Amino acid sequence: MKMKKIAVLTSGGDSPGMNAAIRAVVRTGIFHNLEVFAVERGFAGLIEGQISPMNQVSVGGIMQRGGTVLKTSRSEKFKTKEGLDIALQKLRKFDIDGLVTIGGDGTLRGTRDLSALGLKTIGIPATIDNDLPKTDMAIGVDTALNTVIDAIDKIKDTASSHQRAFVVEVMGRNSGYLALMSGIAGGVEIVLIPEISYNLQEISIKLKEGYQRGKTHCIIVIAEGVGKTNEVSKYLEDKIGYETRITILGYLQRGGSPSAFDRLLASRLGAAAVEHLLKGETSKMVGLIGNKIEATDLEVVLNQQKTIKQNLYNLASVLAK
Ligand code: F6P
Repeated sequence: MKMKKIAVLTSGGDSPGMNAAIRAVVRTGIFHNLEVFAVERGFAGLIEGQISPMNQVSVGGIMQRGGTVLKTSRSEKFKTKEGLDIALQKLRKFDIDGLVTIGGDGTLRGTRDLSALGLKTIGIPATIDNDLPKTDMAIGVDTALNTVIDAIDKIKDTASSHQRAFVVEVMGRNSGYLALMSGIAGGVEIVLIPEISYNLQEISIKLKEGYQRGKTHCIIVIAEGVGKTNEVSKYLEDKIGYETRITILGYLQRGGSPSAFDRLLASRLGAAAVEHLLKGETSKMVGLIGNKIEATDLEVVLNQQKTIKQNLYNLASVLAK
């Protein structure tokens, strides 16, 4: 049976570019003569039946805005069989036969579970953590990286002026991607990520050598997943004698107007998601692999782990002289 009605939702942590993806889903759907509905507040809103029709105008002027105009949530109820059944009923009430979800791994898990109940679904990766396999980049990562390097540039000014050490904590949950890439692009001295072990004594020798060569600042980027921000700072201060300050970048990394890269990625993924639904596909995630948009089974995505490339970690260390 030909698909006639689809819905779109954003779920989990927001990330810059989600609005461009919503816009692409709505406009591509309408282009293909589909009726497109929006679900507010992610899976929580779906359970509560917060579903309304969209048109081309409803997504006008949203692409440059951070966050998600559809709002988002992290729903515990949706993880239960009862929650999933209610969600499905709400969609069926509107005769919606396809759903596009935009979010991170929790969102994709929920999407897979809904497909198992017979709904046609496609997921779009959006998370600043960049922890999803089968896509080189998730929506929001590039903007978050730009935000982090802007912060590092600014902190460097104070670090140099005061000859202080700075420990900058970067988001990413269990992933060190954002920390590693911002460390390379921000030209920092040390990057600490959960995927690769480190030795504080070796780090202190490296930092001392840097100062002896005439370095005026020292920045350590630490991924939140390492969970040792205070400990590292204390080590630098007590054991090595640096005057040290901590900056936790926090939620400012999730906001802001999306970069051109994120807008383009979101536009391509949003359009592709609708096209895959129209081809009758389900339980897949669309992603950027090389420079192509490809769809991968959610089961594959959810059972693999994205790895950090050791050569990039080595590069960070070689360049930080
Ligand atoms: O997944 C995005 C993210 O910002 C992580 O980097 C962070 O660990 C987490 O979400 C914070 O979650 P919450 O928005 O629930 O505080």
